[in-house]
Amino acid sequence: MTNAGMPRVGAREKVTGSARYGADHTPPGVAYAMPVVSTVGKGRITGLDTAEAAAVPGVLLILSHLDELDITPAGYIMAGGYAFQSLQPLLDDRVAYRGQPIALVVADTLVAATEAAGLVRAAYEEEPFAVELDADGTETVLQQEALPLPFLADVVVGDADGAYDRSPLRVDAVYEAGPQHQVPMELIGGVAEWHGDTVVVHEGSQSVGALRGGLARQLGIDPEHVEVIAPYVGGGFGQKNSLQPHLAPLAVAARRLGRPVKLVLPRAHTFHAASFRPMTRHRVRLGADRSGRLLAAIHEVDQQASRHDLLPATYTEITSRLYDIRNFRGRQRHVRTDTQTPGYMRAPFEHPAAFALESAVDELAHAAGRDPVELRLANDAGADPVTGKPFSSRHLAACLRRGAELFGWAGRSPDPCSMRAPDGTPVGWGVAAGAYPAMTVPVLARLRAGADGGVVAEVGGHEMGQGMTTALVRAVAGDLGIGAESVRVVVGDTRAVPHHLTAGAWGTNSTLLAVHAALRDLRERLRVPSEGPVDVAAAVRATGAEEVVAEAVTQGPGQPPEAIDRMRAGLVAPAGPDYPDHVAFSFIAHFVEVRVEPAAPRVRVSRVVSVADCGRVASPVTADAQVRGAVVWGIGAALSEHSEVDPRYGGFVNADLADYVIPVNADVGGIEVDFIDEPDFTLNPMGVKTLGEVALVGVAPAIANAVFHATGHRPRRLPIRIEDLL
Ligand code: MOS
Repeated sequence: MTNAGMPRVGAREKVTGSARYGADHTPPGVAYAMPVVSTVGKGRITGLDTAEAAAVPGVLLILSHLDELDITPAGYIMAGGYAFQSLQPLLDDRVAYRGQPIALVVADTLVAATEAAGLVRAAYEEEPFAVELDADGTETVLQQEALPLPFLADVVVGDADGAYDRSPLRVDAVYEAGPQHQVPMELIGGVAEWHGDTVVVHEGSQSVGALRGGLARQLGIDPEHVEVIAPYVGGGFGQKNSLQPHLAPLAVAARRLGRPVKLVLPRAHTFHAASFRPMTRHRVRLGADRSGRLLAAIHEVDQQASRHDLLPATYTEITSRLYDIRNFRGRQRHVRTDTQTPGYMRAPFEHPAAFALESAVDELAHAAGRDPVELRLANDAGADPVTGKPFSSRHLAACLRRGAELFGWAGRSPDPCSMRAPDGTPVGWGVAAGAYPAMTVPVLARLRAGADGGVVAEVGGHEMGQGMTTALVRAVAGDLGIGAESVRVVVGDTRAVPHHLTAGAWGTNSTLLAVHAALRDLRERLRVPSEGPVDVAAAVRATGAEEVVAEAVTQGPGQPPEAIDRMRAGLVAPAGPDYPDHVAFSFIAHFVEVRVEPAAPRVRVSRVVSVADCGRVASPVTADAQVRGAVVWGIGAALSEHSEVDPRYGGFVNADLADYVIPVNADVGGIEVDFIDEPDFTLNPMGVKTLGEVALVGVAPAIANAVFHATGHRPRRLPIRIEDLL
């Protein structure tokens, strides 16, 4: 049984509408909540008039800082806590940013809750605020001083400044990327209901364990009395990677009312109620010999932060490794602004870092008069230039070569403005590479083999559309030689097993590792050979039991046992990319053709070829979809997606899908995806690295480089706008 062309698990349920997302859960007697949010950029609440709101028929409860909510902040996810930020609204009169919740209205109906929320009147004492990197009142801090942890220290290899100064060929440029929001289709929110002492939460999440551990901490109850259920997640992209501040007030409301309470944040609220991709500025200096061989690189980054937290930045983790650069200096700083805490959004650091570095490499190729693919191949790295350790595997050169061939790169005429479509439209061809760490997290997997021949796999992971469950079904069915229809995977459910956060592209490789180990255990318990097809029904019956249960816990190479305790508590514990004996990264190369409309220089992406090295491809159908989705995302990231800030108002002003512009079908041309598909057995016995995030890394600079080739204008700011090309 190969299950080779096996479709995505859950595809039928999603297409037919039978898949149940968190907020689809509508228990009898459910009440509806709606937040009230601050309309000032910073300050204090001096008065809150809820009388008119409370008079709306059906209103049950209005929670605010005027109540004794008895909620403990859950702590920042990157500082030993569970929440996307350390600030828990509704506990005091402070307003840290526009859009921060200041009250929560609960009513019999959604209509009543929404109407009443609009009638809550707040008075504020306003304070000056800053929402841009260069605004008055920001504060800039050096990461390695503010967050003194070894893996967050500036990367320094050799003498970058000296080598740069001595280089005959130099590039020195500043690149900027605006803030962006994840805008997953499934909005943020869910349902909280109490069954006796236990609160049950139905909410789409990438980390049901964090919701469990965090809510328990917030309410002062045992985590055993919190269950979180999220079998489907309608897109996460990092925004659903931790506890959101609405959940504890929702649980308090449900307890006070003795009724389940549902909250679905309106799209506009999601721009302030959860994390986003911070704005960044990168100064990149590259030094090379006359042939374009890199001698030095200096990458200095300023990243937007909130006043209350610093998102640990790792931009230089990939810019120091993409090429064989023997003299590298990174510097990462945080600029405190008055927003919610920015966080992880697909390839959070790697996408903007690659935009900066890979644009600069294109500038270098142009200055050196060398083909940009050839120049990249000439700078390929054998071992990791930062640690000296070997790469677990590295097929970037193969990605570049195969991509060039599939794209027809040999037909490129090198000079900018030298290629035109038959109708005269300027055409540009660009290339860029990407890398993303291959990290591993602790996972518990339990396999239940039944006398009916079916196998249920309960796994600590989350399916948010990326395809993990499809890969897991394939792995179990493939190992036992049974049909995919005989395997059922349970993820995103604290009632089954403890769950580590699924993010950082580590979901599939880490869960496969645990399932691989659990399969070895299952075969022993079934008393069948260690490989080859298994008659599961017969083997179970031969044991005399109705069901045979196997279990395994796995973690990353070199991880201490405490990592498993952290996983069980819902805390983060990733290992890598720097492992004891190697470093592990996935790689990709993107080739892009753009057409630039001659009148107003509007950029159209007509063709993309992407070739990835993600180790062995664990699930062809969903891996292909991952890369396609990332290319579409990259088109948005390069050309349209921008969360607009206005220094007069604070917050984000284009907080809806009409004004936050994502690509539609007409914006996407042909996409061709291919994989090197070489297993990486150094990293794990399945040979699987990571894919979900590397897929996006390099799309934006490949587009920017194609725009330069078409127009002669060098884009140094994302998104690339018409006015940048005039
Ligand atoms: Mo991802 S941005 O680590 O969910």
